[in-house]
Amino acid sequence: MAPAIEVRDAHPADADALVTLWREMAVGTGHQARLLAAPSVESAQSSVAKHAEDPSGRLIVGEIDGELGGMAYLRQTPISPLHDEVAVTVEYLHVSDHARRHGLGKALIAEAAAWAEHENCPHLAVVAPPVAREANRFLARLGLGQAGVLRFASTHTVRRRLAAEHAPNLLALLSSRRSVLARRAQLARPALENHDHDEAEFGELRLPAAPESAGT
Ligand SMILES: CC(C)(COP(=O)(O)OP(=O)(O)OC[C@H]1O[C@@H](n2cnc3c(N)ncnc32)[C@H](O)[C@@H]1OP(=O)(O)O)[C@@H](O)C(=O)NCCC(=O)NCCS
Repeated sequence: MAPAIEVRDAHPADADALVTLWREMAVGTGHQARLLAAPSVESAQSSVAKHAEDPSGRLIVGEIDGELGGMAYLRQTPISPLHDEVAVTVEYLHVSDHARRHGLGKALIAEAAAWAEHENCPHLAVVAPPVAREANRFLARLGLGQAGVLRFASTHTVRRRLAAEHAPNLLALLSSRRSVLARRAQLARPALENHDHDEAEFGELRLPAAPESAGT
């Protein structure tokens, strides 16, 4: 007999099973860079309760024969900053190893598509790690083409890299300042050594060097 499949919104009581799914997902699908640490059961409980009050987001779970085996986070987001249309984005789609190839993945995507239709959202997007080849094939067969690559890092990492990138500019600035000082010293030396030069020449030699901002 085919297993019974049900998709529903998550309850706070699912928190334990959701944290287990999260851990599996972080280990198995190349999400490691994106997922920092598994949430605590308490944080999962309070987050699930919050989703229940958010009309633009849903955390859905899939059960197979009464056992929770998959999840997906659905969010309504503007399709672009310049269009009126809203898309439903599916993130953190994951089906447990033991529950795969029974139709749970398709049931979760079907729920996302049904919700998008109900909410008049003409587009559906699914976030999948590029290394998850089977998942990407599964999504491609459902008509989802690749639209971009989502890159993820902590704010701290990006700021540190930006600072590192600026460091060579600082060195270049210091080195250009050093060469301006050296040029000034060079210009001043003959002027001081040749006291017999006429006033005009002396004056010329004493002209201030071009400002650094002149880019010389
Ligand atoms: C991708 C993923 C969500 C699919 O979940 P799933 O529950 O196995 O999906 P389904 O069972 O609906 O479909 C998977 C395949 O099994 C087939 N299938 C479904 N029921 C079946 C059955 N009873 N017997 C045999 N095959 C079956 C489907 O036709 C489908 O085949 P296809 O890929 O050739 O189209 C799941 O493999 C997964 O979580 N992967 C890792 C996580 C991941 O990378 N997620 C990506 C998004 S973040």
